[in-house]
This record gives sequence, C-alpha cells and structure tokens, in this order.
Amino acid sequence: MTDFAATKAQFHLPQGMIYLDGNSLGPLPHAAAARVAQTVTAEWGDMLITAWNKAAWMDKPMRVGDRIARLIGAEAGHVVMGDTLSIKVYQALASCLEMNPTRKVILSDTGNFPSDLYMAEGLCRTLGNGYTLKTVAPEDVLDAIDGTVAVTMITEVDYRTGRRHNMAAITARAHQHGALTIWDLAHSAGAFQVELAKCNADFAVGCSYKYLNSGPGGPAFIYVAPRHADTARPALSGWQGHAAPFAFDLDYRPATGAERMRVGTPPILQLAALEASLDIWDGIDMAALRKTSLALQDQYIAGIEAACPSLTLATPRNHAERGSQVSFRHPEGYAIMQAMIARGVIGDFRAPDIIRCGFTPLFIDAADVDKAIKIIADIMQNNLWDRSEYKTRAKVT
Ligand SMILES: Cc1ncc(COP(=O)(O)O)c(C=O)c1O
Repeated sequence: MTDFAATKAQFHLPQGMIYLDGNSLGPLPHAAAARVAQTVTAEWGDMLITAWNKAAWMDKPMRVGDRIARLIGAEAGHVVMGDTLSIKVYQALASCLEMNPTRKVILSDTGNFPSDLYMAEGLCRTLGNGYTLKTVAPEDVLDAIDGTVAVTMITEVDYRTGRRHNMAAITARAHQHGALTIWDLAHSAGAFQVELAKCNADFAVGCSYKYLNSGPGGPAFIYVAPRHADTARPALSGWQGHAAPFAFDLDYRPATGAERMRVGTPPILQLAALEASLDIWDGIDMAALRKTSLALQDQYIAGIEAACPSLTLATPRNHAERGSQVSFRHPEGYAIMQAMIARGVIGDFRAPDIIRCGFTPLFIDAADVDKAIKIIADIMQNNLWDRSEYKTRAKVT
C-alpha cells in the first residue's frame, strides 16, 4: 500500500493553501527544484554541449517515455516525450489519416478539449480533398462510429465535467469498423491506471504538467502501438525523429519505433523536473491511487451537496465514468472560484459555469478535503462570492 503521507511530504505546498488543481498544473516536487538546479549547473554549466553524450540528454525523450509507459499501460519502448500536446495530437492524426487512406472522417465529440478540435480542423484544411472533422455529443460517440470514420480522436476524461469514456468499448467498435483510435490522456495519465495495450489502442497522447508534475510547459508524450510503430509516418518529420540525425542526410528516413515521433531538440530542463517527479511516481501503487482518489472525490461530493444546494454536480456519480476531478455547476461559478482562491482553496473555472477541482492523492488528503468543504460552504451560505472584484475575468481562468 502506498504511503500517501510520505508522498505529500515530497511536494512544496504553500502554507495554508489547499491545492485542488493538480489536474491542471501539478505542484513542485522538492526534488525537482534540486534536479533542475543540478542539470543547469553540473550539466549545462560544466559540460555544455558535451552533455548531449555525457549526460545522455539525447536519450531522455525515450527513457522518460518508458517511465510514463507503466502509468498508461503501454509497452516499453513505445512512448516518447517532446513538444506540446497540441503538436502530438496533430502528429497522431496525420499519421492515422495516412494509414487509413480511403476514409476522410475524423470523429470526435463536443466535450473534447478545443485545441484537439482546432488541430484537426487545421489538418483537414491543409489536406483539403474532402477531409472533415465530425463532432457528436459525448454519449453518441459509440453509435457514430461507422465505415466512413478514418480515426476517432477522443479525450478519455472530459476536461470540464470529468466524465470518462469507455476506452475498451470505443476502441473495439472503432476496430470493428476499420477505424483507428487516438486517445488524449491529458486528464488520465496519473489520474488512474490507463490500459492502452490491453484496450488495443492505436495511438495515445498526453501531457506531463498536470498529474505528472513536470512544471509549466513540460513536454507531452505520444504512444504508438507496436503494430504501427514502424509503419506510421510522421507528418512533422523533424531531424530528431530521423534514423540518423547526425548523418545530416538530405532525405528523411524515420527512426525505428515511436522515436520517429520526435521532432526537434527536447526540453532538457523540463525533462529533468519530470524525472524527479517520476521518482515519486515509480513508487505508487496505481490501485491504491485510484481507491484513494475515488474516496476523496466521494467525500467532496457528499460534503458539497449537503452544504451547498445551489451547486449542481456535473461529474457522473458512477465511479467507472469518472477521472480524478469533480466539477460543480453554478451560473456565478467564476466569482465563486475567485472567492475560494482568496480563501486558499485553489481550483479553477471552465466556461460557462464549471467549478473544477482535482483530487490527487499524492498530496491531497481527507483533512484537506474537509477543510475545503467548510470554506466552500461558508462562501456559499454567506454569499461571500458576491463581490465585484471576484467578477472581473482574468486572462487565465
Ligand atoms: C485534453 C487536452 N488536450 C489538449 C490540451 C492542450 O495541451 P497543450 O497546451 O500542451 O498543447 C489540453 C490542455 O490542457 C487538454 O486538457
């Protein structure tokens, strides 16, 4: 059984703050600050360019990818780090469309994160030739998979409501109809055990700055199933995905396996932060993580529903249909969240009315949830959110 009190002690958590936003930006592991400092001084500082070999910087995207593979149920050697998640979505989509050349439809849902939809629209525009993005309501995805669909592009856990799709069922149906699957794991990786290989997923992408705590701007990951790894062709065919980057050939020749999905120079300082965080993750029992996450969520739902009748639960009650976040709706959700933040309970707001909180057992415990409920109850029962300074929208909500 994982000792979550011990993992909590490994994070920098500001005094008096209850941080319920690790689903958006994970907190700083103490060791990450030290690891980045060491990478800066001992590697960048003292080794300079020789660190690409001496400190094995060149191997980091695959080495770190292997450590994330365990958390997402992927085969070792088939996950690689780099770029942003939006870029990885584009890469996966472009490869899938090329692999399924007689089909023109990308199927997604209206609960998907807009950047995924924007990337798909942009790719369709570039390809022309009848390529289209089709979006349906999340509950209609399964039925919308038919013989016209080239690829499904689904975010497993909805960034607003926390509703979780059934990866096994959607993947099976897609394959039945000759479609490929791309899973966006932004709100899954580190939230619960993902089973990519068991579900027979084709591609998956995700970010490391949420539950995996790599810090703002940390690199994304991409998974390519072993059966596609040596045939998928990267549309963003950068030199670091070349079979021999330092041969400087004029022609592109993809590296073997998932490494071909590398594009350019990897972010070494962010990868150092991520490695320090993964030292914590390496010791986590994922079954214990899920059990604790659900208990914290249930505690929060029960406490808020009992004390704040004007807040409406947006997250499914059924455990199997949830990730690791809980969202409530209220027309004044933005102001309520600002009042919460002013009292040290940090979550975030997602338009139009979602008050979103993440439950991350690595550093949140039942006492934190209890305190958060009491503060939110006070804010709601005494209308403490109803102040003009809480209603002016900041750039980031
Ligand atoms: C589900 C999902 N997909 C894509 C993105 C975009 O990620 P990035 O800004 O790293 O490109 C996000 C960002 O939060 C997300 O939540």
